[in-house]
Amino acid sequence: MKKAKILVVFLTSLALNISAQTKKPASPEEAKMNTFISNLMAKMTIYEKIGQLNLPSSGDITTGQANSSDIGKKIKDGQVGGLFNIKGVDKIKSVQKVAVEESRLKIPLLFGMDVIHGYNTVFPIPLGMSATWNMTAVEKSARVAAIEASASGINWTFSPMVDISRDPRWGRISEGSGEDAYLGSKIAAAMVKGYQGKLQANNEILACVKHYALYGAAEAGRDYNTTDMSKVRMYNEYFPPYKAAVDAGAASIMASFNEVDGIPATGSKWLMTDVLRNQWGFKGFVVTDYTGIPEMIAHGMGDLQTVSALAMNAGIDMDMVGEGFLGTLKKSLAEKKVSINEINRACRLILQAKYKLGLFTDPYKFCDPTRAEKEVFNAENRQIAREISAESFVLLKNSNNLLPLKKTGTIGLIGPLADNTANMYGTWSVAALFDQSVTVLQGLKNALGNDAKILTARGSNFLADSLAEHRYINVHNPTYKRDPRSEEEMIKEAVRVAEKSDVVIATMGEGSEFTGEASSVTDIQIPETQKNLLKALVKTGKPIVLVLFTGRPLALKWEQENIPAILNVWFPGSEAGNSIADALFGKVNPSGKLSATFPQNVGQVPLYYAHKNTGRPLAEGKWFEKFRSNYLDVSNDPLYPFGFGLSYTTFNYSDVKLSANTLTKGKSITASVTLSNTGKYDGKEVVQLYIRDLVGSITRPVKELKGFQKVNLKAGESKTISFNISENDLKFYNSDLKFVAEPGEFQVFIGTNSRDVKAASFTLK
Ligand code: BGC
Repeated sequence: MKKAKILVVFLTSLALNISAQTKKPASPEEAKMNTFISNLMAKMTIYEKIGQLNLPSSGDITTGQANSSDIGKKIKDGQVGGLFNIKGVDKIKSVQKVAVEESRLKIPLLFGMDVIHGYNTVFPIPLGMSATWNMTAVEKSARVAAIEASASGINWTFSPMVDISRDPRWGRISEGSGEDAYLGSKIAAAMVKGYQGKLQANNEILACVKHYALYGAAEAGRDYNTTDMSKVRMYNEYFPPYKAAVDAGAASIMASFNEVDGIPATGSKWLMTDVLRNQWGFKGFVVTDYTGIPEMIAHGMGDLQTVSALAMNAGIDMDMVGEGFLGTLKKSLAEKKVSINEINRACRLILQAKYKLGLFTDPYKFCDPTRAEKEVFNAENRQIAREISAESFVLLKNSNNLLPLKKTGTIGLIGPLADNTANMYGTWSVAALFDQSVTVLQGLKNALGNDAKILTARGSNFLADSLAEHRYINVHNPTYKRDPRSEEEMIKEAVRVAEKSDVVIATMGEGSEFTGEASSVTDIQIPETQKNLLKALVKTGKPIVLVLFTGRPLALKWEQENIPAILNVWFPGSEAGNSIADALFGKVNPSGKLSATFPQNVGQVPLYYAHKNTGRPLAEGKWFEKFRSNYLDVSNDPLYPFGFGLSYTTFNYSDVKLSANTLTKGKSITASVTLSNTGKYDGKEVVQLYIRDLVGSITRPVKELKGFQKVNLKAGESKTISFNISENDLKFYNSDLKFVAEPGEFQVFIGTNSRDVKAASFTLK
């Protein structure tokens, strides 16, 4: 019996060495890693190999039900590959100690966490971050997040979330970069770079791209719902950001909860192996989302053993919380439902990630408690957050240049978000310090000193109905307290404040947890009780600036028609109040641009700029014609188009100049405009380049973003802005899923948003 076991171990180790050697290692380091892992795996029992694939949740952070009761024992038994939702460097260190001192093979653990938009220092929510259109800022925010997280024991973040979404009902639109594949791809790559760097230093951590795939296309915007789309659409419009993150070297990827083409992503071999590994060349490991494997039972794919084998054979390497691998893989191996090659593949990939992190050399590499004191939530990081937050704000309206405000007179600061520490962060800020965000009130005080007087009133709760409010404001908001007064009483007080003020700053919109996971809605307006307050404030006749907090595009038709100035601040993070004051008083000139269309009403959803023309498009300038593709009750136009955002200054675009009217394959042409700052303030403008392929073998969008540049111009200054266009920029996946550029006529547009552009044409030969 014993001899037979030794023989099996020997043969397995031989097979492993051979398989590691048959794929030629790219470098001597890789060869060294392969040998190290092969030797280690040769010592592992099947029980220990399956253990590496297990990722339980400790209960420190609520992102679902934890399976923490016997984790310590499981670690000692080699039954855990990594742990997540555990907070605090000392705690993490003590758990790592159990793994490397008390388990048989002393294999260190991965420690994961949802570090989504910062750790203790919180940056704007990702949808806000994407509105900066500033890739240096995006990368920097991920870098700071990695520094802080790694100083706190974390070596793996479940970020970036790169799901394209065109549905503001879906609460998780806040966690991504909006509707566009091109912008989303740039951001995905920048985030991966920011988190991982070269994966060498003790502040460079593993990124995890999620949620692969199509999670943002949930039907009716209802979280976890079915998705269904053509492959042509997947490849052209939804896959690019995942692929961009893989191309940038992302170390891991997370499977999504939803089905793709009729099979839950977690069980889809086509997604996890054919596309991800074979077509895109992904070399890292794939983890499920939270209980993704057992959830396939509810999807109707079979019992736990069946769905676990399905996931393993599809190409999943790590099982988050589900314990389907742990509980059933051994049996499936004996019954030949999975092969040892698959289990070896998964185990090797997990060990590889640990090796690349340097955990085998120093399992405590990320457990230096002295770092946390110096490197977390320090003045430097907060200053970076302040600057990036201000850059994420989108000025939606500014009649008669009401903004920037002067620092004089009496300012009425009104609304449920005026003095609200708990709601400055937005969703997924699990490591945030809830009592240490800068509120709007504090920010105004910091900016104004004694220069102006501030009067305040809460004016309303988030929602009139306390039970409903409790549902909206949930897990991560321990410090939020509802005002017990009646709606009338609160509005009356607010109106009295407004009447005594020269200008009113109304801070309204959503609370932090109105968006995020399991926070879908069917009404995307500012809640009624706040709108009632706003209407009462309008009646006072005072100039009003709406400082809008939101995690999703909202329908703001009434606000656009009745409020003179609207500054959308998303959820700005730790330095909220300071960055808001910076923008309101003109220290910073807003330069954010929307990364997702704001519709007129929810019935237009999904509404996105890169739509198809259809066979019955509306004629330009019309908003209704019978037997055309439109609605009876509302025009097809968005309220604010993709790419939209105003500035305190004005920019003028010249006509588009092309260096040639013909583009030959293998060559490039240049499209340029002269951009002039024609206003009174220095400012930044995001110059956007769109292309339309007029005739294709499949129908093509009316416009696709293909380039952008964020340009700084002094008042009165002009600059020529040029874009290179090559055949590559014209490529798309055709109906055979081949990435091709088809000769013919193209239009090129350059402008300040996806609607207001100048056009020119060229031909691809
Ligand atoms: C979410 C993921 C997250 C995971 C771990 C899931 O519910 O969908 O985005 O990374 O929990 O907390």
